[in-house]
Amino acid sequence: MRATEKQTELQFRIHSSRSETDKLFGMVRPDSLYERPIPERHRIVFYVGHLEAFDWNLLREPMGLAAFNPGFDRLFAFGIDPVDGGLPRDQPSDWPSIDEVRRYNARIRQELDQAIAKAGPGRGSQGEDRRVLLNVAVEHRLMHAETLAYMLHQLPLDRKVKPASVPCTQTAPVAPGMVEVPAGTATLGITRSGHFGWDNEFEENVVEVPAFGIDRYKVTNREFLRFMEAGGYQERANWTDAAWTWRTEHNVTQPGFWRRVDDRWRLRTMFDEIELPLDWPVYVSHAEAAAYARWAGKALPTEAQWHRAAYGTPRGKERPYPWGSKPPQSSSLGNFDFRSWDPACVNAFPESRSALGAEDLLGNGWEWTSTVFQPFPGFEPFPFYPGYSANFFDGQHFVMKGGSPRTAACMLRRSFRNWFQPHYPYVYAGFRAVSN
Ligand code: AVJ
Repeated sequence: MRATEKQTELQFRIHSSRSETDKLFGMVRPDSLYERPIPERHRIVFYVGHLEAFDWNLLREPMGLAAFNPGFDRLFAFGIDPVDGGLPRDQPSDWPSIDEVRRYNARIRQELDQAIAKAGPGRGSQGEDRRVLLNVAVEHRLMHAETLAYMLHQLPLDRKVKPASVPCTQTAPVAPGMVEVPAGTATLGITRSGHFGWDNEFEENVVEVPAFGIDRYKVTNREFLRFMEAGGYQERANWTDAAWTWRTEHNVTQPGFWRRVDDRWRLRTMFDEIELPLDWPVYVSHAEAAAYARWAGKALPTEAQWHRAAYGTPRGKERPYPWGSKPPQSSSLGNFDFRSWDPACVNAFPESRSALGAEDLLGNGWEWTSTVFQPFPGFEPFPFYPGYSANFFDGQHFVMKGGSPRTAACMLRRSFRNWFQPHYPYVYAGFRAVSN
C-alpha cells in the first residue's frame, strides 16, 4: 500500500516537473528557439530535446523499451561546460527542426508513462532501484528548470513572452551585521539508506568547525556597490591570480546582472530592467564574491562553516532545515520553489532564522563557498550516470549551498550540493562572508 502511494507520488512529480520546463520553453518566442543566450552553453533547441532524451537514455533499458531514434538519443544526451574558452561553434542549421524534436519528445513521454504505469511500484530492491532512477529523472529536470531560467535570463527581453507579473516584497531597511557561531560540529552529506540523494551527497561525514562570525544576511546590492565605489574591481590585492586574469581579460567591472544607464545603476531582471533594488542580494561570480570578502577583511565560508551556521544549534544538535524541521513549503521561509522569477529583500524572511541567527539561507540566491567541489569519503559514482559529479571533480568548480528563487523545494535538503566554475557569471548566486 505504501509503495503504491509512493508510485503515484512519483508519477505526479514527473508530470509537474514536466509542466515546469514546458512553461519555460513556452516563454521563448517561437522564432528564437535556435538562439544561444549563453555562449558557453548549447542552443535552446538542444535543451528541448535533452530533457526527454535524458529520461529516455536513463529509463529505456530498465523499463524494457526499444530505441526508435538512436541518433537523437545521442545528439541530445549531454550538455556542455567548457573550461577556459573552447566555445561551441555549431550553427542553427546543424540542429533538427523543432517539429521533429517535439515528435521525438511526445513519443518518449507516451512510452515512458505507459511503461511506468504498467510496471507499478516494483518489489524489493528492484522497486527501490527504479525509484532512484525516477528521482534522478525528476531532479535532473528540475535542475534544468533552474539552469534554463539562467539561460533565458540572458535572452533579449523582446524575445520572451512575459507571464503574469509577481508583486515584490517590501521590507524595513536592511541592517547588516554578523552573528557569532561557536565551535562545534557540522554534519555534511547523508547516510545511504531511506531517501534519495545524488552520488555526491554520500557518505555522511562529521567535521569539527572552530568558532567564527558570519553575515546575518546575504551581501546586498547596496553593500556590493560600496566595494565597487571603493575601486574594488581595480584593486589587484582583492583578487587571486586566476581571478585577476579573468577580470582583466574580460574587462569585468560590475556584476553581470547590472546595467549602467545615464549614471544610474539598473538591474536586469527576468522580464524587465529596473532601478537597482539595494536590499536584494547581489548575484555575482565566485571570483567577485571572494574579491568583495577579501576587501571587507573577511572570507567566503567553507562548506562546513555554511552548514554550521545554517543547521547548527548552541547545544550541538543539528537541524534538518535552518528554521527547524518543517519542510520548505511556506513562502515565509524563503524565496524558492519557482514562486518568483527574481530575488526579494534579504531581510524578508525572519521566520527562516537559523538557531545561530542567520537568515535567508535557503532560496533567494545560492551562496558561494570557498570549498572546491570534491567527493566525500566513501563516494561512489552512480553506475547509471557515472559522470554526474565525477566529471566535475577537476578543481575548477566550487560548492554552492542554499538555493535560488528557481530551486525546487525537494532540492532544499541539507545534503544537496550545487557547483559551478568560479568565473561563470550567469548563476543565481550570491554569498555571505565570514570572519575567522
Ligand atoms: C548540478 C546544476 C551544476 O547544470 O551543470 C544537469 C546539473 N547536470 N544536467 C549543471 C546537471 C547534468 C548541473 N549542476
